[in-house]
Amino acid sequence: MSLSKSALLYLSRQEGLRDVASRSSTFQKITKRFVAGETLEEALGAIRDLNSKGITASFDHLGESIKSASEADGEVTEYNRILQTIDRERLHSNVSVKLTQLGLDIDPEICYQNTRKIVETARSFENFVRIDMEDSAHTGTTLEVFRRLRAEFDNVGIVVQAYLYRTEKDVEDLLKIGARIRLCKGAYKEPASVAFPKKEDVDQNYVKLMKMLLPSNIYHGIATHDPAMIEATKKFAGENNIGKGRFEFQMLFGIRRDLQESLIKEGYGLRVYVPYGNAWYPYFMRRLAERPANVWFILKNFFKG
Ligand code: FDA
Repeated sequence: MSLSKSALLYLSRQEGLRDVASRSSTFQKITKRFVAGETLEEALGAIRDLNSKGITASFDHLGESIKSASEADGEVTEYNRILQTIDRERLHSNVSVKLTQLGLDIDPEICYQNTRKIVETARSFENFVRIDMEDSAHTGTTLEVFRRLRAEFDNVGIVVQAYLYRTEKDVEDLLKIGARIRLCKGAYKEPASVAFPKKEDVDQNYVKLMKMLLPSNIYHGIATHDPAMIEATKKFAGENNIGKGRFEFQMLFGIRRDLQESLIKEGYGLRVYVPYGNAWYPYFMRRLAERPANVWFILKNFFKG
């Protein structure tokens, strides 16, 4: 991992900086590139726009690492409001949640009960909940909560990260329980004891895992902006008669819109992850870390503003 990437990921976890950045109106303006807005209404506008282009979405209410059970209750209320809104407005969108947002660090049982409420509401609207994957300290507990939910519900899926050594075995096990999986590279700062440090090894593992997912007859999400990963997926699907309707590509709001449009033109399914809310700091910093060149864009705007 490069020094700049590693430094940005370190900063993403600094709460003091988060408080300063969150109060800065210039920072708030700049986050608009990656975050759809602070309110559900603003995110709705972004999702309507995506839907009008044939792109489906996944709502994400930003709010990881909450500190109290009452904050976690607030997140459940917000997700129920999102699910009702999707239904009422007939949007093509599901929801993504982070388990630390629903109390995983407070008590895994509280987190399970909170997530269950959201998945149950989603089922009543025939909708779907994707559980995001956080840093490796949470991988095991996140998978445990997912497994409990999966035993009861069909409308819940999970994310796996190609940079973790453990993921190949996790995918084998998850496919046995019919899990719908989003495959991504992984966005957190991880030590070499748990994750491939080199990009080429992460990419190689990503392709290997994609080849395990696609033939499984389960509808998975291939989440990446990397043209090489996208080409490898198209090629493998084409060679193995896996139709375009049997999986979808997924990207993040505001990233590689050109690639998003070309996939839609080619007839592939595409879902865009749409984050909103005022707790944008760690999400925003991870996006900077993925492409340290973005820092120049920020600095330019900072001094302009
Ligand atoms: P890579 O980082 O190699 O980038 C490939 C190319 O994409 C770059 O050259 C650049 O052109 C473009 N690009 C990528 N990131 C960019 C950025 N921030 N700004 C501008 N351009 C950029 N992670 C995780 O740990 N847990 C999760 O639950 C999720 N969930 C998730 C959902 C969805 C829908 C997506 C697309 C991604 C995630 N991620 C995630 C993030 C993921 O792990 C990863 O960090 C990013 O997708 C970046 O990796 P790429 O596959 O795009 O490749």
